[in-house]
This record gives sequence, structure tokens and C-alpha cells, in this order.
Amino acid sequence: MFWQEDLETMARPDLEKLQLKRLRATVDRVADSPFYGPILRQRGRPSIRGLGDLSELPFTRKTDLRDSYPMGLMVADKKDLVRLHASSGTTGKPTVVFYTRKDLDVWSDMIARCMAMVGVVPDDVFQNIVGYGLFTGGLGFHYGAEKLGVLTVPAATGRTTLQIELMKDFHVTAVHSTPSYALHLAEVAREGGVDPVEDLDLRIGMFGAEFWSDNTRPRLEAALGVDAFDSYGLSEMYGPGVAFECEQRDGLHIWEDIFLTEVIDTKTGEQVGEGEEGELVLTTLVRDAMPLLRYRTGDITRVLSSERCPCGRTHLRLEKFLGRTDDMLKIRGVNVFPSQIEHILMEIPELSENYHIELETRGLMDEITVVSEIGERAFTGEVADLVNLRQRVEATFASKIGLRIKVRFAEPGTLERSTGKAKRIVDKRREE
Ligand code: DLL
Repeated sequence: MFWQEDLETMARPDLEKLQLKRLRATVDRVADSPFYGPILRQRGRPSIRGLGDLSELPFTRKTDLRDSYPMGLMVADKKDLVRLHASSGTTGKPTVVFYTRKDLDVWSDMIARCMAMVGVVPDDVFQNIVGYGLFTGGLGFHYGAEKLGVLTVPAATGRTTLQIELMKDFHVTAVHSTPSYALHLAEVAREGGVDPVEDLDLRIGMFGAEFWSDNTRPRLEAALGVDAFDSYGLSEMYGPGVAFECEQRDGLHIWEDIFLTEVIDTKTGEQVGEGEEGELVLTTLVRDAMPLLRYRTGDITRVLSSERCPCGRTHLRLEKFLGRTDDMLKIRGVNVFPSQIEHILMEIPELSENYHIELETRGLMDEITVVSEIGERAFTGEVADLVNLRQRVEATFASKIGLRIKVRFAEPGTLERSTGKAKRIVDKRREE
């Protein structure tokens, strides 16, 4: 099912022609803006003859958005703005993004495309279980779903028992949430005597706003009785809907008529080849209020394929995200992403989906400990069983990551659950 078939299946040469036209228009739109104007003039106003000239343009970073708070990157007439969203960082001012009516229409189309792509149809009932408000997940997905014509339950997050009641009473068939909250919902449902697989009508689960590993997929599917699809986005690029898995679930399609995609080496800033890992850099192609040139997303992925997908779409497929550049842990000279740790944990049936990673300094060395909850069914309370399991998990980490990672277990139901993005890292290093 397509929402905008002509655009989604456009042959690559036509797509590139469209991108070039839109890139030129974007550069013209920001050429005299307070932020990009001086930078572009300093570079002698690069002229874009082909897509290869993209590298002449400057990168934009999250700090640029923060430093130009509140409206420094906005180029539209203020009277044309209709919405703003903001994401709060842990430090400093939030990053704020602005939308004109045209931007909201583009965004809704992106979301409608994503939902249609995974098989949501107007007959479905859709519950949107992400924060409404300054966070882009709620309103962004909401209007896309309405555009597709699906009955939308704006449940937001929290009040978990009510969420389950809504799903049951309105025969909800599709949900969108963070993977961690989805797993918590399933847990609460079971505790309350509702088996999500038997007693609910769910068939499609769209999960995003945080990384989740491929080994988490079968767990989400078994917990909720859905097919699980990865949903990627970031506020700086409208919000959710930027890239999404199709029914093939072999990479996330990124909407190339809306974003120009590069994957770069984080150190040199040079583009890496297809299939090589690097940081995703995006240039908006049709953004009205706040066009961004070569925005460094901080997210690590690689281009899986630029060939037409068996689903018929031609837009690039990106690999599931490994994490953010700033999430990468450097422990005793070994680089490890939390998602790699999750991938290993989720392979071990005795462990639940709840875990966190503790970092501390012992003497001169950084120590890493994974605190993982034992699954309800595997928990015997026998010390010998736990010792065995711990040795097995530690040996798996050592062989697959090449690092001594300590493991500590927590009893079922004791680690903190989150309704939004889960906090996976507890960094005690700075406190010592
Ligand atoms: O998380 C937008 C969103 C809402 C996406 C709902 C999907 C669903 P921010 O709060 O600005 O926006 O956070 C964006 O979250 O740069 C990634 O690091 C991370 N992220 C988002 N989706 C995924 C995903 C929303 N599917 C930041 N896999 C991004 C891995 C993700 N990381």
C-alpha cells in the first residue's frame, strides 16, 4: 500500500533530478538568512551545479540550534508559523523547531506514507502512545494518522491501565510507542489478567524514538501479538516519520524527496561508501520555516541499499541505528554501543527486557556493569542457577564484544520502567 506512490517509487535518476532542484531552492531560501547568510558568503556563495556540490555547503550542528535559541534558524515570516516543538537536552536551552502550514502538510504526508507502508489502513484503529506536547512524537504522528484516515486514539503516555482498557474496548489494531514502554504495557496488561495476544486485536506495532536491537523484535512481537516496525526521526527534521521500515523489514527507508542523505566519517567529515558505517547527515529539501543544511544527526547507521526494494520503493534503505555518537562507550580502549549490549541480552531467554548499564571508575580503570532483570519465568531464586547464568552472560559479552563486562541481576519487576525513552546508562564516573 502506498500513500504517494509516484514519489515513493520514483526511479533514481528522476529522484536525483528532483533533489537537485529542491536543494538549489533550499540554498536560495537560506542564502540571506541571519544564520546561513554570513557562512555562505564566507564560502563565496557556493553554486550547486550537481548533487556532488553538496560538500561545498557547511555542516549544521545541534549546538548551532541551541546557540541560536530561540528563533535564529527560522527563515519564514513569523505570521506564517503555525506550530513549534522543542526537545529538552540535559544541559542548556532546548532546541526549538518551527513549522508553517506547508511544513505540517509535508510532515503528515511523511507519517501517512510510513503508516501505509507497514500496512495500516483506514479500517484500523490506531493508539498513539507517545508524549503529546512539545515532544514531536504525539502531534506529529497524530496528524499523519488522521490524514491517512485512521481512527486515532490520542492516548499519550502514562495511565498504563487505561491504555490497556482503551485498546481492549476500541479494538485497537495498531500502536506507536517507544519499544521500552510497549514492553511495559504488555507486562502491566498480563498482571491485570489481559493477555495482549489473546485478548487484544493488535496487529501492527511501530516502535521508535530510541534504539532497539533486532533481537528485541521477537520479544515485542511475542509480548503484544504484533508485527514490529522501526520508526526513526528527530525533532530537528520535523520529528518522527523520517525513516521507517517497510514490510520487508530489511532496513529503514529514508524519504529522499524530503531529505538529502549523507553518511559521513565522524572524524574527517568525508562521505563514506555505501555499506560503510558512519554518522547520518541530513539536508532538508522542502522545509519552509527552518531549512537545515547538512545537519549532523549524531546517529550511527549505514546505507544498506540504494536499489529498488522488493516493496517497490526506491528510497535508500538505512540499517537499524546503532546509537548516537555521544552514546558510544569507550571502555579500556574498546568502543561499544549500548545497542550491542542490548542485542546480546535479548538473545538470552532467561533475561527480561529491562536492563541498564552502570559505568564507574575503579582505580584508574573504567568498569562497566550490566544490571539485568531476570525474567519472571526463569527466576528460581536458587543461587547456583544465578551463578551459572551470570557466567554464561559474561562469557558471551567477552567473546562477542571483546570486553570484560560484569553482570549483576535484579529480581523480576524491580528495575525502573519508563513511559518514554528509557534511561539505559547510569554514569557514576564523574561523581568519583
Ligand atoms: O524521538 C522523534 C520520534 C518520535 C521518533 C517518535 C520516533 C518516534 P527527539 O526527541 O528529537 O525526536 O530524538 C531524536 O532519538 O536523533 C536518535 O538518536 C533517537 N531515535 C529516534 N528514533 C530512533 C530509532 C524523536 N528508531 C533522537 N532508533 C534521534 C534509534 C532513534 N534511535
